[in-house]
Amino acid sequence: MSNRVVIHTDRTTGSINRNIYGHFAEHLGRCIYEGIWVGEDSSIPNTKGIRNDVLEALRELQIPVLRWPGGCFADEYHWKDGIGPRETRKRMINTHWGGVVENNHFGTHEFLMLCELLGCEPYINGNVGSGTVQEMQEWVEYMTFDGESPMASERAANGREEPWKVSYFGVGNENWGCGGNMRPEYYADLYRRYQTYVRNYGDNKIFRIACGANDFNYDWTEVLMREAARYMDGLTLHYYTVPHTWAEKGSATDFETSEWFLTLRKALVMDELVAKHKTIMDKYDPDKRISLIVDEWGTWYDVEPGTNPGFLYQQNTMRDALVAAATLHIFQKHHDRVRMANIAQTVNVLQAVVLTEGARMTVTPTYHVFEMFKVHQDAEALDVDHRPASYTQGGESIPQTSVSATRDQAGRIHVSLCNLSHDEEAVVTIELRGLADSNGGANGGTQLPVSGRLLQGDAIHAHNTIEQPQQVQPVELKDITISADGRIQVTLPPASVAVLQAG
Ligand code: AHR
Repeated sequence: MSNRVVIHTDRTTGSINRNIYGHFAEHLGRCIYEGIWVGEDSSIPNTKGIRNDVLEALRELQIPVLRWPGGCFADEYHWKDGIGPRETRKRMINTHWGGVVENNHFGTHEFLMLCELLGCEPYINGNVGSGTVQEMQEWVEYMTFDGESPMASERAANGREEPWKVSYFGVGNENWGCGGNMRPEYYADLYRRYQTYVRNYGDNKIFRIACGANDFNYDWTEVLMREAARYMDGLTLHYYTVPHTWAEKGSATDFETSEWFLTLRKALVMDELVAKHKTIMDKYDPDKRISLIVDEWGTWYDVEPGTNPGFLYQQNTMRDALVAAATLHIFQKHHDRVRMANIAQTVNVLQAVVLTEGARMTVTPTYHVFEMFKVHQDAEALDVDHRPASYTQGGESIPQTSVSATRDQAGRIHVSLCNLSHDEEAVVTIELRGLADSNGGANGGTQLPVSGRLLQGDAIHAHNTIEQPQQVQPVELKDITISADGRIQVTLPPASVAVLQAG
């Protein structure tokens, strides 16, 4: 089916905040423990307790920002349990996630060290549900105060003289649910109170993030914006793509083509959600000072058979790659307001980019999308006209293709594309309009060199396993032609993601 894309290379609409490519790691299942933290004495090669293979894979993604410690765990987490000598740290039960022992070996120092090793910004989520104002104030002081203070002295006694730079701080998580079952009016007041004590010490300036809505809860956004807008820099939104129902979500790997379609159709709902929450935010904040932060998103299936239901461990196929690519395109489209997003979650949980088993690991199709799309980070968004063909199943239709285009600081143009259809190729014709004359083709086309990378599997269920870690990986996109008038034509196989580079 044919799809037409016109890219106005002389019309930029703003820049893509690199934090759209952010991640989220919670004390949940095998995300932190095993997936990231193995401890210094582990036989798994590690750097100060953090496993080297995962570190290396994550570095390749150029993760800009990492959210921690939750999720629901955040509103039960008392940060003082996770500092000081590890052997004396409090052991507790992770009541939310699997009822397992949490030994607190991964705490504030370990997380901030991880961020330093990854070269990313930390995004700390504080506890409103079961924590005090004082506890939150002292955490910020502990991490960022430079000089003499009780918390800075304790930090130094625990081995860290220098304060850390902490830019992003969330005041509670899902406070409409696991974070305290609050009404928006009540949380708005609590937010105003707690954030007062989230202080900027020295030149550490904190970007304060208020807990926002779950999917279609527009009333939550309305109340928070009306009551607390002037006290926040960001407001969150959570949306998970669940193919069926919360009780029976569907399998990650064993699905019909109708479920492939259903999952992608539900993933595309993100566009409507972001647009509607933005409209409410625009009413109270027409200058768009406040960012919409989608700090939990991704697919959520039934756990893999035989695994702890509280660990949320699921495999990851080409279907997840398409969800990731199409969702990232939606965030890029709404870059005027969406300035951070954090996929749930980094390792071994939900739509993970890395899966581990003992000492071995593999990266997922979703990982490859993040790696291929990293060229968009901090690039200028280009104005795109997109005329997609339709992809129809069971009487319902969604666009067959999704696209986004940016120009990086070196002047190269990157066009990412996905073909959502499970069984039909997508022929995509791309015109680059507005190029400088010396580069332009006869009809506003291009004489720039064009190359591309393609991610596809041998089936829609294709995925990587520990035993077969390279079933799905990017290859060169060969099917690119440039016509005499400069139009680029690519043929995308069914169920594939591609990134083109021009220039
Ligand atoms: O990501 C898993 C959980 O989903 C998070 O802990 C919570 O915030 C959300 O409901």
